[in-house]
Amino acid sequence: MKKAEKNEMGIDDDAEIFAPPYKTKVVEEICLIPKKERIKKLKENGFNVFNLDAEDIFIDLLTDSGTGAMSDKQWAGVMRGDESYAGSKSFKRMKKAIQDITGFKYVLPVHQGRGAEQVFDELMIKAGQVVPGNAHFDTTKAHIEYVNGRAIDCTIAETLDTEKHHPFKGNLNLQKLEKSLNENKDNVAYVLITITCNTVGGQPVSMENIKKTAEIVKKYNVLLFFDGARFAENAYFIKKREQGYQKKTMREIVKEMMDCVDGMLMSAKKDAIVNMGGFIALRDGEIYKQLVPIAILREGFITYGGMNGRDMEALAQGMYEGIDERYLEYYVDNQVGYLGEELHKQGIPVIRPIGGHAVFIDVKKFLLHIPQSQFPSQALCCELYIEGGIRAVEIGTLLAGRNPDTGENIYPELELLRLTIPRRVYSKDHLDYVVKVITKVWKHRESIKGLEFVYEPPILRHFQATFKRIE
Ligand code: F0G
Repeated sequence: MKKAEKNEMGIDDDAEIFAPPYKTKVVEEICLIPKKERIKKLKENGFNVFNLDAEDIFIDLLTDSGTGAMSDKQWAGVMRGDESYAGSKSFKRMKKAIQDITGFKYVLPVHQGRGAEQVFDELMIKAGQVVPGNAHFDTTKAHIEYVNGRAIDCTIAETLDTEKHHPFKGNLNLQKLEKSLNENKDNVAYVLITITCNTVGGQPVSMENIKKTAEIVKKYNVLLFFDGARFAENAYFIKKREQGYQKKTMREIVKEMMDCVDGMLMSAKKDAIVNMGGFIALRDGEIYKQLVPIAILREGFITYGGMNGRDMEALAQGMYEGIDERYLEYYVDNQVGYLGEELHKQGIPVIRPIGGHAVFIDVKKFLLHIPQSQFPSQALCCELYIEGGIRAVEIGTLLAGRNPDTGENIYPELELLRLTIPRRVYSKDHLDYVVKVITKVWKHRESIKGLEFVYEPPILRHFQATFKRIE
């Protein structure tokens, strides 16, 4: 939000700085079931919050994906939705908005981000090829591996130090990138930059790093794409933190970022603030032409691709609302940033600087007495539910799975618990409540117990595993 101007009384109206740039039109009831009930539900559901009923959650911080509140203009768009199978007016409006904001000429709709990954990778990756990038998101990596490709992580080392200050912890290590391109000459499918980088804490990539990556990639004659799920937040961080961008508009920064790459894969459930939807946007007509038959087969005809006409209307409008600077300042600084800094003030270890869409608790420092083999992030996740009906999400040993060759648990460097903030949903009071609950848990952290498997599914175990406490 713009710095408050002097009001009619001649004083700075500070209150405005923290006030959301929207007001509430519709509300949804939430309730905190009694603690005894919460303990019972958690036990019945094998200490896995994915198994809980949403009505038993008070504050749901599982994800920012598809959980945002749509605006009056988006809902008005829903009424305008043209549900024609082919040639929908809503598709045209969505395509125009994407072209306008990103500058990419070709747009293929898909049902969500992983739909884009599936269609794109089927064409772009030949068995044995590599996809270097910055800490690919799990579905992104899984899709690359599904077509027998390999993701190479080139994220900078500063990322692993959760306390180290670096304004762009999502950056690629350019030496590492160049090395991977050199070692895999003629065997690189494409390079992918994830903006912001979810896996390492919603951390941004600087414009300088994007431009240098583009230069290197060009030298090797390789194509460069964005995983743009949170492109708007990345642009906001550039404006806030990178020299020379303070006077530029969000539109200009987004365009400058997009000008560096050949296209983007988009889960619109994040920065386009819709409940479902996504797209692939490209500069090159030839790739588009080759993707079309795969997209039709996997997602649906090229003017809907797994979306309803009404979803496409909401997405078109959401693209503009997602890059509104006043909204971004409120969401990134006054909600996510506020929550993170308040927890930090209480001495609670969180990844700093605070990311764009979530606060990540550094669980290795929170639960010193629980080894990674006993799933400390999952144990903390359960404790937040018991203490305050809050649902967070484990991003640690449980999510990391097992090494396919040895069958051993993979113990990730970062053992995290993510508190993900849905867009335009919760108030400052809700966030203050979250701070109070976590502070309470922090005070009795030594009494928290580790977990062991009761049931471990063979793949994607975090969704369905069940546990018992190690007494
Ligand atoms: N890329 C990134 C960076 C993501 O964070 C996600 C999803 C996807 C791709 C896949 O998109 O869900 O629409 O299929 N992230 C969600 C999350 C699930 O909770 O972080 P999708």
